[in-house]
Amino acid sequence: MSANVNPPAIENELTRAMDAALRPQTTHKIGVIVCSQRKPRAGLQIGTFVLETLQHFQKTHPSPRPYELSLIDLNDHPLPLFNEPDVPSRIKSASDYKYSHTRAWSELVSSYNAFVFVTPQYNWGYPASIKNAIDYLFNEWRGKPAMVVSYGGHGGGKAALQLLQVLEGVNMKVTKDFVALQFPDRAFLYKAAHGENLNLNVVPEEADGQGVIETEDPQAILDGVDATDEAARKAKEPLWAKESRELCSQFWELVSVLNG
Ligand SMILES: Cc1cc2nc3c(=O)[nH]c(=O)nc-3n(C[C@H](O)[C@H](O)[C@H](O)COP(=O)(O)O)c2cc1C
Repeated sequence: MSANVNPPAIENELTRAMDAALRPQTTHKIGVIVCSQRKPRAGLQIGTFVLETLQHFQKTHPSPRPYELSLIDLNDHPLPLFNEPDVPSRIKSASDYKYSHTRAWSELVSSYNAFVFVTPQYNWGYPASIKNAIDYLFNEWRGKPAMVVSYGGHGGGKAALQLLQVLEGVNMKVTKDFVALQFPDRAFLYKAAHGENLNLNVVPEEADGQGVIETEDPQAILDGVDATDEAARKAKEPLWAKESRELCSQFWELVSVLNG
């Protein structure tokens, strides 16, 4: 200790640090955004599947700082095509927006600390509804952690990559990967497009497909591990088992960024 350090000053610093450690931590809010607004649509079912998977993960993997997850459905916050007169990056307070729909959207987004965007792929891109909702604001997104879950016939990876780029553009802290929920077949795609029940269930962790690689195809047995094993594994696994594991692992990354 240097001679000119005042012991009461150190004591004060210690007291402040202890007070901070003992103060109850505020609960972070993480929003799962349903990015599609069609009627009918699969988006709400898939967004709910993502939310419930993450809530299940939350129960089994406690975070050092509490957080709560909830759904943000763009259908509950209808916005006309962007019509504010000023550039949102110049706006510092919700009251500076011209329209009440923008002020309401700004207040909602400001109340969250991080986001999981659940988006379909439309013609190799993400839907206009989510671009419009993002463009309305800027500082409300800025600096907050974000991740993307896409879905579609091939998983919607093209939409996810484009959306990640836009989220970086509003200065969000995006996870480096995304999760792609690929529809298993054409019948599923038809049901999704028509908003029919997809029977999505949270995949229990024990049903993760580990050790169930089996095949009865004699050629495959001769060939050793090959694509047939992968097909057999997939047939035995519940839908999106592997993707659910990826989802939880990327979500944990997002929570870690949020906790600093
Ligand atoms: C306008 C439109 C474009 C689509 N383009 C694609 C596409 O590029 N790739 C794909 O895999 N599926 C595509 N689909 C199929 C969607 O993945 C499927 O309809 C899904 O249910 C859309 O999500 P939603 O129901 O939440 O809107 C498209 C669907 C629509 C309505």
